[in-house]
Amino acid sequence: MDLVAHIKRLAGDAPVRIGLVLGSGLGHLAEAVDGVAIPYTDLSGFPHAGVSGHNPKLVIGDLEGVRVAVFGGRMHYYESGNPAAMRLPLEVLKGLGADSLILTNAAGSLRADIPPGDLMLLSDHINLSGANPLIGEKTDARFVPMTDAHDEGLRGQLKAAAARAGVDLPEGVYAWFSGPSFETPAEIRMAKVLGIDAVGMSTVPEVILARFLGLKVAAISTITNMGAGLSDERLSHEHTKAMAPLGAAKLEKVIRETLRHLR
Ligand code: HPA
Repeated sequence: MDLVAHIKRLAGDAPVRIGLVLGSGLGHLAEAVDGVAIPYTDLSGFPHAGVSGHNPKLVIGDLEGVRVAVFGGRMHYYESGNPAAMRLPLEVLKGLGADSLILTNAAGSLRADIPPGDLMLLSDHINLSGANPLIGEKTDARFVPMTDAHDEGLRGQLKAAAARAGVDLPEGVYAWFSGPSFETPAEIRMAKVLGIDAVGMSTVPEVILARFLGLKVAAISTITNMGAGLSDERLSHEHTKAMAPLGAAKLEKVIRETLRHLR
Protein backbone atom coordinates (compact mmCIF):
# COMPACT_ATOMS: atom_id res chain seq x y z
CA MET A 1 0.00 0.00 0.00
CA ASP A 2 1.40 3.37 -1.06
CA LEU A 3 0.19 4.99 2.09
CA VAL A 4 2.07 2.52 4.29
CA ALA A 5 5.28 3.15 2.33
CA HIS A 6 4.70 6.91 2.61
CA ILE A 7 4.20 6.68 6.41
CA LYS A 8 7.29 4.47 6.78
CA ARG A 9 9.34 7.04 4.89
CA LEU A 10 8.21 9.69 7.38
CA ALA A 11 8.22 7.66 10.60
CA GLY A 12 10.74 4.90 9.99
CA ASP A 13 10.53 1.25 9.07
CA ALA A 14 10.36 -0.40 12.49
CA PRO A 15 7.13 -2.34 12.83
CA VAL A 16 4.38 -0.87 14.96
CA ARG A 17 3.32 -3.15 17.80
CA ILE A 18 -0.08 -1.79 18.74
CA GLY A 19 -2.59 0.84 17.62
CA LEU A 20 -4.61 3.20 19.78
CA VAL A 21 -7.70 5.11 18.70
CA LEU A 22 -8.47 8.08 20.94
CA GLY A 23 -12.06 9.12 21.57
CA SER A 24 -13.71 12.48 22.30
CA GLY A 25 -11.70 14.57 24.71
CA LEU A 26 -9.00 11.89 24.98
CA GLY A 27 -6.62 13.25 22.33
CA HIS A 28 -4.04 14.23 24.92
CA LEU A 29 -2.29 10.84 24.81
CA ALA A 30 -1.19 11.54 21.23
CA GLU A 31 1.05 14.29 22.62
CA ALA A 32 2.78 11.86 24.98
CA VAL A 33 4.22 9.76 22.13
CA ASP A 34 7.83 10.36 21.24
CA GLY A 35 7.66 10.16 17.48
CA VAL A 36 6.39 11.58 14.23
CA ALA A 37 2.96 13.22 13.93
CA ILE A 38 1.26 13.18 10.54
CA PRO A 39 -1.96 15.21 10.11
CA TYR A 40 -4.77 13.18 8.52
CA THR A 41 -4.89 15.88 5.84
CA ASP A 42 -1.47 14.64 4.64
CA LEU A 43 -2.71 11.05 4.38
CA SER A 44 -4.66 10.58 1.21
CA GLY A 45 -7.95 8.80 1.82
CA PHE A 46 -7.89 9.35 5.57
CA PRO A 47 -11.10 10.84 6.99
CA HIS A 48 -10.80 14.61 7.02
CA ALA A 49 -13.89 15.82 8.78
CA GLY A 50 -13.88 14.88 12.42
CA VAL A 51 -15.56 16.14 15.53
CA SER A 52 -14.36 18.89 17.82
CA GLY A 53 -12.51 17.41 20.78
CA HIS A 54 -10.64 15.01 18.50
CA ASN A 55 -7.08 15.48 17.37
CA PRO A 56 -6.96 14.37 13.73
CA LYS A 57 -3.42 13.16 13.34
CA LEU A 58 -1.57 9.87 13.29
CA VAL A 59 1.38 9.73 15.67
CA ILE A 60 3.89 6.92 15.32
CA GLY A 61 6.60 6.44 17.86
CA ASP A 62 7.52 5.29 21.31
CA LEU A 63 5.22 5.18 24.32
CA GLU A 64 6.58 3.41 27.40
CA GLY A 65 9.17 1.65 25.24
CA VAL A 66 6.61 0.22 22.79
CA ARG A 67 6.24 1.33 19.18
CA VAL A 68 2.68 2.53 18.82
CA ALA A 69 0.47 4.17 16.21
CA VAL A 70 -1.95 6.59 17.83
CA PHE A 71 -4.96 7.75 15.87
CA GLY A 72 -5.78 11.10 17.46
CA GLY A 73 -9.21 11.26 15.90
CA ARG A 74 -11.78 8.92 14.52
CA MET A 75 -14.47 9.41 11.92
CA HIS A 76 -17.91 8.46 13.17
CA TYR A 77 -20.72 6.87 11.22
CA TYR A 78 -22.90 9.90 11.97
CA GLU A 79 -20.49 12.27 10.22
CA SER A 80 -21.01 10.89 6.73
CA GLY A 81 -23.28 7.87 6.92
CA ASN A 82 -20.28 5.65 6.15
CA PRO A 83 -19.78 3.01 8.86
CA ALA A 84 -16.50 1.97 7.19
CA ALA A 85 -14.92 5.42 7.52
CA MET A 86 -12.12 3.98 9.69
CA ARG A 87 -11.35 1.07 7.36
CA LEU A 88 -8.36 2.70 5.65
CA PRO A 89 -6.71 3.85 8.90
CA LEU A 90 -7.05 0.35 10.33
CA GLU A 91 -5.73 -1.23 7.13
CA VAL A 92 -2.76 1.10 7.41
CA LEU A 93 -2.26 0.04 11.04
CA LYS A 94 -2.17 -3.58 9.94
CA GLY A 95 0.19 -2.66 7.08
CA LEU A 96 2.55 -1.02 9.58
CA GLY A 97 2.89 -4.37 11.34
CA ALA A 98 0.52 -4.03 14.32
CA ASP A 99 -1.31 -7.09 15.59
CA SER A 100 -3.42 -5.39 18.27
CA LEU A 101 -5.67 -2.39 18.67
CA ILE A 102 -6.99 -0.58 21.73
CA LEU A 103 -10.03 1.59 21.11
CA THR A 104 -11.19 4.32 23.47
CA ASN A 105 -14.38 6.32 23.55
CA ALA A 106 -16.58 8.58 25.62
CA ALA A 107 -19.80 6.93 26.71
CA GLY A 108 -22.93 7.30 28.79
CA SER A 109 -23.33 4.86 31.69
CA LEU A 110 -26.44 2.91 32.60
CA ARG A 111 -24.89 1.66 35.83
CA ALA A 112 -24.99 3.65 39.05
CA ASP A 113 -21.79 1.85 40.13
CA ILE A 114 -19.93 3.15 37.02
CA PRO A 115 -20.40 6.93 37.37
CA PRO A 116 -18.98 9.78 35.24
CA GLY A 117 -15.20 9.90 35.53
CA ASP A 118 -14.89 6.12 35.71
CA LEU A 119 -13.70 3.69 33.05
CA MET A 120 -15.42 0.60 31.65
CA LEU A 121 -13.72 -2.18 29.70
CA LEU A 122 -15.97 -3.58 26.98
CA SER A 123 -16.65 -7.26 27.63
CA ASP A 124 -18.83 -7.34 24.52
CA HIS A 125 -21.04 -5.04 22.47
CA ILE A 126 -24.48 -4.74 20.91
CA ASN A 127 -24.89 -3.11 17.52
CA LEU A 128 -28.13 -1.12 17.68
CA SER A 129 -27.29 1.10 14.71
CA GLY A 130 -28.51 -1.18 11.92
CA ALA A 131 -25.27 -0.35 10.08
CA ASN A 132 -22.21 -2.52 9.51
CA PRO A 133 -18.85 -1.47 8.02
CA LEU A 134 -18.64 -4.72 6.03
CA ILE A 135 -21.82 -4.18 4.03
CA GLY A 136 -20.67 -4.12 0.42
CA GLU A 137 -17.50 -6.11 1.11
CA LYS A 138 -17.40 -8.69 -1.66
CA THR A 139 -15.26 -11.47 -0.23
CA ASP A 140 -16.37 -14.29 2.07
CA ALA A 141 -14.11 -12.72 4.68
CA ARG A 142 -17.10 -10.45 5.41
CA PHE A 143 -18.67 -13.24 7.49
CA VAL A 144 -16.61 -12.33 10.52
CA PRO A 145 -17.25 -14.34 13.68
CA MET A 146 -17.88 -12.01 16.61
CA THR A 147 -18.09 -14.64 19.35
CA ASP A 148 -14.90 -13.50 21.06
CA ALA A 149 -14.44 -10.17 19.31
CA HIS A 150 -13.19 -8.39 22.43
CA ASP A 151 -9.94 -10.29 22.88
CA GLU A 152 -9.69 -12.12 26.15
CA GLY A 153 -5.91 -11.93 26.33
CA LEU A 154 -5.76 -8.21 25.65
CA ARG A 155 -8.60 -7.57 28.11
CA GLY A 156 -6.71 -9.56 30.71
CA GLN A 157 -3.60 -7.43 30.12
CA LEU A 158 -5.65 -4.22 30.49
CA LYS A 159 -7.33 -5.47 33.68
CA ALA A 160 -4.03 -6.53 35.22
CA ALA A 161 -2.49 -3.17 34.29
CA ALA A 162 -5.45 -1.31 35.81
CA ALA A 163 -5.08 -3.30 39.04
CA ARG A 164 -1.36 -2.49 39.19
CA ALA A 165 -2.12 1.20 38.52
CA GLY A 166 -4.83 1.27 41.18
CA VAL A 167 -7.58 2.13 38.68
CA ASP A 168 -11.01 0.46 38.80
CA LEU A 169 -11.79 -1.18 35.46
CA PRO A 170 -15.18 -2.89 35.59
CA GLU A 171 -16.33 -4.74 32.48
CA GLY A 172 -19.62 -4.21 30.74
CA VAL A 173 -21.58 -4.38 27.51
CA TYR A 174 -21.46 -1.30 25.25
CA ALA A 175 -24.16 -0.53 22.73
CA TRP A 176 -23.62 1.45 19.56
CA PHE A 177 -26.36 3.97 18.85
CA SER A 178 -25.77 5.80 15.56
CA GLY A 179 -26.00 9.32 17.01
CA PRO A 180 -25.47 12.19 16.53
CA SER A 181 -28.56 12.91 18.61
CA PHE A 182 -28.29 11.47 22.10
CA GLU A 183 -30.64 8.69 23.19
CA THR A 184 -34.09 9.32 24.58
CA PRO A 185 -34.89 8.26 28.15
CA ALA A 186 -37.11 5.52 26.68
CA GLU A 187 -34.19 4.22 24.61
CA ILE A 188 -32.02 4.16 27.71
CA ARG A 189 -34.73 2.24 29.62
CA MET A 190 -34.87 -0.21 26.68
CA ALA A 191 -31.07 -0.53 26.73
CA LYS A 192 -31.17 -1.35 30.42
CA VAL A 193 -33.64 -4.19 29.75
CA LEU A 194 -31.31 -5.49 27.04
CA GLY A 195 -28.42 -5.86 29.47
CA ILE A 196 -26.51 -2.84 28.20
CA ASP A 197 -24.12 -1.11 30.62
CA ALA A 198 -22.98 1.88 28.52
CA VAL A 199 -23.99 3.60 25.29
CA GLY A 200 -22.02 5.50 22.69
CA MET A 201 -21.74 6.51 19.06
CA SER A 202 -18.54 4.80 17.98
CA THR A 203 -16.14 1.89 18.50
CA VAL A 204 -18.36 -0.99 17.34
CA PRO A 205 -17.65 -0.47 13.62
CA GLU A 206 -13.93 -0.38 14.44
CA VAL A 207 -14.16 -3.61 16.44
CA ILE A 208 -15.83 -5.27 13.45
CA LEU A 209 -13.21 -3.89 11.04
CA ALA A 210 -10.37 -4.93 13.34
CA ARG A 211 -11.65 -8.51 13.49
CA PHE A 212 -12.11 -8.48 9.70
CA LEU A 213 -8.45 -7.44 9.37
CA GLY A 214 -7.28 -10.04 11.90
CA LEU A 215 -6.27 -7.51 14.57
CA LYS A 216 -6.78 -8.39 18.23
CA VAL A 217 -8.95 -5.70 19.76
CA ALA A 218 -10.13 -4.39 23.12
CA ALA A 219 -11.96 -1.18 23.97
CA ILE A 220 -12.30 1.08 27.00
CA SER A 221 -15.03 3.66 27.61
CA THR A 222 -14.51 6.76 29.70
CA ILE A 223 -17.85 7.52 31.23
CA THR A 224 -18.76 11.19 30.74
CA ASN A 225 -22.39 11.10 31.87
CA MET A 226 -25.27 8.91 32.94
CA GLY A 227 -27.57 7.81 30.11
CA ALA A 228 -30.44 10.13 29.21
CA GLY A 229 -33.04 10.34 31.96
CA LEU A 230 -30.85 8.69 34.58
CA SER A 231 -29.64 11.99 36.05
CA ASP A 232 -30.38 15.71 35.89
CA GLU A 233 -27.36 16.44 33.65
CA ARG A 234 -28.15 18.09 30.33
CA LEU A 235 -26.40 16.04 27.63
CA SER A 236 -24.35 17.88 25.04
CA HIS A 237 -21.08 17.47 23.19
CA GLU A 238 -19.70 20.32 25.30
CA HIS A 239 -20.55 18.30 28.39
CA THR A 240 -18.87 15.19 26.93
CA LYS A 241 -15.70 17.15 26.16
CA ALA A 242 -15.71 18.80 29.58
CA MET A 243 -16.13 15.49 31.41
CA ALA A 244 -13.77 13.30 29.34
CA PRO A 245 -10.59 14.59 31.03
CA LEU A 246 -11.86 13.16 34.35
CA GLY A 247 -11.49 9.63 33.01
CA ALA A 248 -8.64 10.46 30.63
CA ALA A 249 -6.05 10.58 33.39
CA LYS A 250 -7.07 7.09 34.55
CA LEU A 251 -7.13 5.84 30.98
CA GLU A 252 -3.62 7.13 30.40
CA LYS A 253 -2.39 5.31 33.51
CA VAL A 254 -3.95 2.03 32.38
CA ILE A 255 -2.59 2.30 28.85
CA ARG A 256 0.91 3.29 29.96
CA GLU A 257 1.00 0.43 32.47
CA THR A 258 -0.25 -2.04 29.83
CA LEU A 259 2.47 -0.94 27.40
CA ARG A 260 5.17 -1.09 30.08
CA HIS A 261 4.44 -4.78 30.49
CA LEU A 262 4.41 -5.38 26.72
CA ARG A 263 7.96 -4.11 26.39
N1 HPA B 1 -24.80 8.59 24.55
C1 HPA B 1 -24.13 8.37 23.42
N2 HPA B 1 -22.87 8.73 23.23
C2 HPA B 1 -22.23 9.32 24.26
C3 HPA B 1 -22.86 9.55 25.48
C4 HPA B 1 -24.22 9.18 25.63
O1 HPA B 1 -24.86 9.34 26.69
N3 HPA B 1 -21.94 10.16 26.26
C5 HPA B 1 -20.80 10.28 25.56
N4 HPA B 1 -20.98 9.75 24.32
